[in-house]
Amino acid sequence: MALFNNTRIVLASRPIGRPSLDNFRIEQTELPVPGHGQILLRILYLSLDPYMRGRMSAARSYAAPVEIAAVMEGGTVAQVVESRHPDFVAGEVVLSHSGWQSHALSDGTGLVKLQNWPAPLSTALGVLGMPGFTAYAGLLTIGQPKQGETVVVAAASGAVGSAVGQIARLKGAKAVGIAGGPTKCAIARDEFGFDAVVDHRSPTFAEDLIAACPDGIDIYFENVGGKVWDGVFPLLNSFARIPVCGLIAQYNSIGVFEGPDRLPVVMRDILSKSLTMRGFIQREFVYQKPKFLEEMGQWVVSGAVRYREDIVDGLQNAPEAFIGLLDGNNVGKLVIRVS
Ligand SMILES: NC(=O)c1ccc[n+]([C@@H]2O[C@H](COP(=O)([O-])OP(=O)(O)OC[C@H]3O[C@@H](n4cnc5c(N)ncnc54)[C@H](OP(=O)(O)O)[C@@H]3O)[C@@H](O)[C@H]2O)c1
Repeated sequence: MALFNNTRIVLASRPIGRPSLDNFRIEQTELPVPGHGQILLRILYLSLDPYMRGRMSAARSYAAPVEIAAVMEGGTVAQVVESRHPDFVAGEVVLSHSGWQSHALSDGTGLVKLQNWPAPLSTALGVLGMPGFTAYAGLLTIGQPKQGETVVVAAASGAVGSAVGQIARLKGAKAVGIAGGPTKCAIARDEFGFDAVVDHRSPTFAEDLIAACPDGIDIYFENVGGKVWDGVFPLLNSFARIPVCGLIAQYNSIGVFEGPDRLPVVMRDILSKSLTMRGFIQREFVYQKPKFLEEMGQWVVSGAVRYREDIVDGLQNAPEAFIGLLDGNNVGKLVIRVS
């Protein structure tokens, strides 16, 4: 008799605009059996990240979309249940890319053992994982913060933004965070130590940002785009650097973007202020991973870099939690505790 004890969430349809629950389908399938050279993994934690919205769309991007009826992709922390692979034994915990499901088969490709991990295992998906690395590599390689400079980042209480602000301060820069609402602003200021925090939901956002950046902005770590960009752009100093990391404000957009055509003004200031704008996908800096793990690991263990996780229990709650991420409902790194 078949044992239907693998749970998985597949992409049922492609969202138009904001995703809804019916874009996902929960399925029960048979527990896979590892063949020769394979490992059966039980997923402990699943990372939910903004990039997943792009994978739900068939539009051209830097990565292939998830096919309809396929398991949603995602980074995971998993435990080896059964191994027929010479390099893995039952009980070991690994970082994998197993997606939105409770169990997965692997041939070992891309698995990273999390032996002697210096912090809770969930941090392998957050501050010591992809988002933390994105902050580290993007800020230090493209932004290159210097003593006394002003660094601005939005989504400042989130996984990437909170790390950007703290690393900027460790490098002697002033960190100004932008976040949505008083609770997130208080977290950015009190937990993550931003020197100043501005609420992008406030009707006085543009004026508040000017007041928070009396010396202008030397580095803008772009996470959101939209009206936050409109507020930041006029304040950029000559020779400012803009690592373009994400544009979450437009991930659910359909068709033409709101507002006037910004391109002529942006191009004028790129020229006249000698601005450097550089988009990046974190994996291009993969060669920096060992240095990141060593340096960030020390910062996290010593408390020099703090982190916050928003842990949601139960794989079945992943679709709702993901939709909430795009609405700004998460407070800190969003992780699903699968088992
Ligand atoms: N380039 C790369 O390799 C790479 C890698 C990882 C992440 N990223 C990007 O980095 C950004 C942050 O990712 P994360 O994982 O740290 O997410 P996160 O901050 O944990 O969560 C997303 C946050 O974005 C903010 N947000 C959503 N819609 C917004 C809007 N319309 N205007 C302003 N803020 C909005 C919300 O915070 P508030 O409520 O505070 O506004 C929300 O909590 C995303 O754009 C993501 O795509 C890029």
